[in-house]
Amino acid sequence: MYAPLGIGAEPLAPGLAVIATLAVVLFSLLKGTGWEPTTDISEEIHERRASSVPETEFPEPGNRAIGGGGGGGAIPAGGDGDEGELEDGSTASAGPGDIPEDEIEYYEVEFAKQGETIELANNEPILDQGEDHGWDLPYACRQGQCVSCAGRVTDGPSEDYLEHDNQQMLEEAELEDGYTLTCVAYPRDSFTLETGEAP
Ligand code: FES
Repeated sequence: MYAPLGIGAEPLAPGLAVIATLAVVLFSLLKGTGWEPTTDISEEIHERRASSVPETEFPEPGNRAIGGGGGGGAIPAGGDGDEGELEDGSTASAGPGDIPEDEIEYYEVEFAKQGETIELANNEPILDQGEDHGWDLPYACRQGQCVSCAGRVTDGPSEDYLEHDNQQMLEEAELEDGYTLTCVAYPRDSFTLETGEAP
């Protein structure tokens, strides 16, 4: 009639285990882990560093590197240096026309449509030198960004005979066909040119 004591007690075991676990968790929550967030002292450090840097010693606020660690060292070193590099940059980024006076060379260029061969210096665009000679040659932007000044070198690929300074319009195949933008083209050899010829 009565169930054995062991059989009735067994279902209680999991329940007791759950209750015990919850009690432990509750206890630890109430007690806490003992961890406390550290105080944020970054503001304090910034203010302290700011107060240690006299405003008057820095003519440009941008030169201050409060809290910037090594940045403070990099800026003064590069500050003056950047200006120097920019000034020197004109030589560093020298274009095909930046040729020292004693290294200028001249090439005989035949202007086919004008029926004349003239000597062109290698430090001036072909367009400029043609105009200096008195010819009314086509142009628009004079910056290699249109094709108004285009011409064609009849001897072969244009860049075998001249150097472009940042032309942005002609594709490789067109250059291979001899086309050039005379406003940004500097002679590097003698050749025959047909002006007013665009691809
Ligand atoms: S004038 Fe525009 S590319 Fe020469």
